[in-house]
Amino acid sequence: MVFAVEIPIDKLIKDVEKVLPNSYAPYSGIHVTAAVLTSKGNVYLGVNVENASYGLTICAERVAIASAITNGEKEFTAIVIASNTDEPLPPCGACRQVLAEFVNNDIVIISHSVNTKKSKIWRLSELLPHTFKSIYIKKPSNHKPI
Ligand code: THU
Repeated sequence: MVFAVEIPIDKLIKDVEKVLPNSYAPYSGIHVTAAVLTSKGNVYLGVNVENASYGLTICAERVAIASAITNGEKEFTAIVIASNTDEPLPPCGACRQVLAEFVNNDIVIISHSVNTKKSKIWRLSELLPHTFKSIYIKKPSNHKPI
């Protein structure tokens, strides 16, 4: 299946399924991977990384976003998530807010369960309406731009 804005969903699902064994989730047993697709057509992957100090856990989506940012890309058109849960996981609130930082028009979110092969598709605007954004905190900065 290819989405209207040319999102190669099947290929992206294969990409995320491939790295699922790399997810580090010894505490919850919930393995999650994510791939962000940028407006340039590049894909950046992430897995959830848990910690013995539970609160330090980082979700797959934010790892994928950080990887895209590290590689100089901040315009995302889609994010694909895969998990070993029976239902496709909706991204957590923290990940929705982090995604919203980099929204251009909207972001398509596709989630896929590797157990049941069910998939769900949402728009970020649907999952996070009335987003808190930088326009609410804009103020003159003394920092020199790079
Ligand atoms: N998790 C994600 O990776 N993404 C989400 O959006 C929801 C939750 C991970 C974090 C934790 O390792 C496990 O799923 C259980 O919460």
